[in-house]
Amino acid sequence: MDIKSIIIYYSYSGNTHKVANILAEDLRRSSQVDILRLQALDESDSFFAQALRALKHSRGKIKEAKLDLSGYDRICLGTPVWAFAPVPAVNTYLDQCSGIEGKDVIIFTTYGSGTGNTRCLNYMQRALSQKGAKGFRRFSIQQFRVKDKDFILSEIQQIAPL
Ligand SMILES: Cc1cc2nc3c(=O)[nH]c(=O)nc-3n(C[C@H](O)[C@H](O)[C@H](O)COP(=O)(O)O)c2cc1C
Repeated sequence: MDIKSIIIYYSYSGNTHKVANILAEDLRRSSQVDILRLQALDESDSFFAQALRALKHSRGKIKEAKLDLSGYDRICLGTPVWAFAPVPAVNTYLDQCSGIEGKDVIIFTTYGSGTGNTRCLNYMQRALSQKGAKGFRRFSIQQFRVKDKDFILSEIQQIAPL
């Protein structure tokens, strides 16, 4: 398999992790897949502190991670929605990653009520466009669906062919 994909994501309580793994399983049918789970080094455990930092689009400290994505044909980036926005660790990654010029990117979220989900996706899309990404496909999974593999695969199908 010559196509190389990478899935980069952050997950605090495991929902986005589940979705990332199902996406990986799907992509593995047609490509090699690397997975990178971002590790936040300065994340608070307090809901309000988390929400406030996300609302302000704060950057967080992250454990050293692969930033040069030039070796990948397909790049996927996932985040939970926090206060209508990506999490601080993902904001940092959006700042620091490189090698996405001219590429198609898949962005995905998991969310609770859905408030701010589109805003969060738009924010990520804008940041990646500014780095030269060319095309975008997006999907989102509500938290109560994250154990429903068939549902998640059907949502991924809707943005196919990957
Ligand atoms: C601090 C915080 C803020 C959140 N803000 C939103 C929000 O604005 N909109 C929404 O739909 N869900 C919101 N949620 C719910 C999460 O997006 C949802 O639980 C998500 O699936 C968590 O993903 P994870 O388990 O990968 O960390 C928030 C959760 C937390 C902890």
